[in-house]
Amino acid sequence: MPVPARFITFEGIDGAGKSTHVDAVARRLRSAGAAVLGTREPGGTVLAEQLRKLVLHETMDALTEALLVFAARRDHLQQVIAPALARGETVLCDRFTDATFAYQGGGRRFDLAVLAQLEQWVHGDLQPDLTIWFDLPAALAAERRAAAREPDRFEQQDIAFFERVREGYLQRAKQAPHRIVRIDASLDRDAVWRQIAGALESRQW
Ligand code: TYD
Repeated sequence: MPVPARFITFEGIDGAGKSTHVDAVARRLRSAGAAVLGTREPGGTVLAEQLRKLVLHETMDALTEALLVFAARRDHLQQVIAPALARGETVLCDRFTDATFAYQGGGRRFDLAVLAQLEQWVHGDLQPDLTIWFDLPAALAAERRAAAREPDRFEQQDIAFFERVREGYLQRAKQAPHRIVRIDASLDRDAVWRQIAGALESRQW
């Protein structure tokens, strides 16, 4: 039986450790027979990757930031995500609209009603089938980030910013409890993976 097309997104504050697990989910689904496309936001197309550079490195206000991430998302959806789902592929996307509600809405305190309007314009009723949210305290994420590379505009923010981003994710998760699965990302890598595998198994994926 062909594996149905699924749209899975990965979310969490910077330093939550999602990248290695995105690759592991791709391997697991491929070995179960799915055609998997891995992508990321902002980005995933030539245009959206250019917008990503601007968003990550140029100074701008929160509305400009929100418009740019949604513009990037629109292009990405049209060029990559929707066609892949239509071909029956499973799309794994590192961040999506929940990140806008968390970073621009929570972190930057931008108007959530405007973000909801943009969300409606850009992707209507299309939502991920599953969102894996790597949740951990902002202070622990900051410790993990300290060991990593040169920080971008977001990674330079203080702990209070990331606590607001975390709260932004929590609010989104409360609004979509079936779609968004919270993973305790403060645990070690194996324990984090077991939670993700459990979320996939419970859906028989
Ligand atoms: P990230 O996905 O963490 O990539 P990397 O692992 O290469 O650092 O970086 C993207 C940054 O963009 C991250 O700090 C969150 C931010 N972002 C927003 O502010 N709004 C959005 O809508 C998206 C998708 C990302």
